Amino acid sequence: MADDIAVRVARAQEIARDIHLFEFVDDQGRDLPLFTAGAHIVVRVPNGMLRKYSLCNDPAERGRYVIAVLREAPDGGTQSLISGVKEGDTLAIAPPRNNFALVKSSAGYLFIAGGIGITPIMSMLRHLNATGGARYRLVYCTRAPQATAFRAELAAPEFRSKVTLHHDGGDPARMLDLWPFLDQPKGAQLYCCGPRAMMAQVRDMTGHWPVSAVHFEAFSEPARARPQDRPFVVRLERSGDQFEVPVGVTILEALRARGHVAPSSCESGTCGTCRTRLLAGEADHRDLVLAEHERADAIMLCVSRALSDDIVIDR
Ligand code: FES
Repeated sequence: MADDIAVRVARAQEIARDIHLFEFVDDQGRDLPLFTAGAHIVVRVPNGMLRKYSLCNDPAERGRYVIAVLREAPDGGTQSLISGVKEGDTLAIAPPRNNFALVKSSAGYLFIAGGIGITPIMSMLRHLNATGGARYRLVYCTRAPQATAFRAELAAPEFRSKVTLHHDGGDPARMLDLWPFLDQPKGAQLYCCGPRAMMAQVRDMTGHWPVSAVHFEAFSEPARARPQDRPFVVRLERSGDQFEVPVGVTILEALRARGHVAPSSCESGTCGTCRTRLLAGEADHRDLVLAEHERADAIMLCVSRALSDDIVIDR
């Protein structure tokens, strides 16, 4: 990673079932680079993988970065972090970046978190509490009390009256109905981070919200391939170029492999940076940005594919 920072693990602790907190400090005792609420860092974990984790502490803290991670598949990068890193170890991280930044001066904020999706939102809540006055509500859904990160902290007086906590036992029939929270936007900014199914549900319920007021952050990368995926051809209307997009490769990657310059940011279908006009063909939309009425003539190159044999895009 370019611009690596060497950090020392000052704390490594399980804080809820299968959720581990890590606190990093600069290896030389210096201040760490500034971050803003909603930012993430990239960590090189012991098995060599690079993993992206949201910072969950107050951005005003200069001496530490705090992340909380969920144990995942045995061969995954997070498993490597949990089982291979202990207090006192040194790790390489990339400096913070933010694709999920908090809009300042909103009339209010609504936060919807699912499971480990609470992490960037904790940083936002801490920032809002510390800077005073902003009206907000957190809707936080987890499977069970024991699987709820920051449960004790969110029960403290500075949070308690602003938090709706719901446990569904992992049963879809017991999922919280989010509509009462989303029915009236009331000028608020909405931030949602959780499982992709939950974020898709929130996107479908917020068609009446201003597009600029709805923000998503994916805590896991979208699946590289689905069983039904097949190759397709992309034709570029303006340049005249065309190329095949194989299974397991995104349109964005295939485009860049041809030498085209294409902007991107989140590369998880949540920020809108790679939005491109779709001129012909049928897209297989996998993003969390486009509303239903926008899907006929736009496509997110970082995650979406084609259902037709080829598509034509405005490039
Ligand atoms: S780069 Fe963010 S949606 Fe594609």
